Amino acid sequence: MKKRIVLIIGGGIAAYKCLDLIRRLKERGIGVRVVLTRAGEQFVTPLSVGALSNEPVFTNLFDLDAEREIGHIRLSREADLIVVAPATADLLAKMAGGHADDLASTVLMATDKPVLVAPAMNPRMWMHPATQRNVRQLEADGIRIIEPRVGEMAERGETGPGRLPEVPELVAAIEEMLAGSPAGAAREGPLAGLHVLVTSGPTHEPIDPVRYIANRSSGKQGHAVAAAAAKAGARVTLVSGPVTIPDPAGVDVVRVQTAAELLEAVTRALPADVGIFAAAVADWRVANAGEQKIKKTAGARAPSLSLVENPDILKTIASGKGPSRPPLVIGFAAETENVTEYAARKLKSKGADWIVANDVSPASGVMGGDANTVHLVARDGVESWPLMSKAEVAARLVARIAEHVAQRREAAQ
Ligand code: CTP
Repeated sequence: MKKRIVLIIGGGIAAYKCLDLIRRLKERGIGVRVVLTRAGEQFVTPLSVGALSNEPVFTNLFDLDAEREIGHIRLSREADLIVVAPATADLLAKMAGGHADDLASTVLMATDKPVLVAPAMNPRMWMHPATQRNVRQLEADGIRIIEPRVGEMAERGETGPGRLPEVPELVAAIEEMLAGSPAGAAREGPLAGLHVLVTSGPTHEPIDPVRYIANRSSGKQGHAVAAAAAKAGARVTLVSGPVTIPDPAGVDVVRVQTAAELLEAVTRALPADVGIFAAAVADWRVANAGEQKIKKTAGARAPSLSLVENPDILKTIASGKGPSRPPLVIGFAAETENVTEYAARKLKSKGADWIVANDVSPASGVMGGDANTVHLVARDGVESWPLMSKAEVAARLVARIAEHVAQRREAAQ
């Protein structure tokens, strides 16, 4: 049967992305009925929304014609999913407080269907304790939140978490929820009830607005671990540097570019029960990246770059005290020689519980390839695994985590 969503468009500069979102959903055969909040109408018009959705657009609770024809109760009941994008700080507050003073909030109160909320706002508004409290409340109420992405804001010079995810990500989350997959429903499996945080991919450290320092990490191993943890029933947050591989299913993905953004996103995603740090974070960034493109001038010397050390995300989190340190912290080590010896040193120096040591010597073909030779280094010994695919490494690592969690649960009883 054809799936239908109600899309509530709040007032934010990101509302324009919803026009494309409607088109993409329609292409996939998903019916879209739009509710525009009063603030939303300031950013997109009922005319353009109606033309794209090919449905009447609902704007006012006391629009008697619309009430007679469909009514806000039917509007919410006839949908398979309610999506709020962009959700403003005000809309989140209304939802958390159970207000019903306009059509959008009334539909949200009247529905018995799953709700997906994609907040977008100024980073300071997002980080405000009131907004964070409201988001936690909504999560506790069973509403799925897609975290805003870190990046440049519409306001000049402002960066931070607050951007609406791009349309393909919104489409994926909507399709996933319409399919009744783990994101909405209660999860099952050995990691059910746990929050697993995974970092993956490289980081890009800008030299100037068009150039950057990067590395060859593909993100395949980290993404495979995130997918395996989700399959085992965990709620997974994947913080990923720039990669070209698809998002794993059933995982909340936060996209970042630099090591500094990675640290910020990881810190925000805590607390977690397990932290898996598979990202190939650049060890250095350019000390004073140019605000403008560096030009070459005939006869002048080539510019020299001076580098400063990036924060070590694994070490920062592993050495944390109290609830900010996940009870199980797993790092990765990329080594080209003396693999287990160097990994054991890293285990100590970074304060991790386990290190998954990869042999990345050029002969191994690991970087960018599909297979991996790893050793699991823990304080009480080393386990060497045979050559296997990155998906198999991920599945085996998740199985080891599940064993560890089960033992810990037993010991706690
Ligand atoms: N790591 C991190 N933040 C950094 C550098 C590394 O979180 N700034 C994490 C990686 O995600 C990985 C582990 O630390 O889990 C080991 O990374 P690796 O690059 O192998 O080690 P380095 O600490 O960079 O040491 P070296 O390059 O000297 O081998």
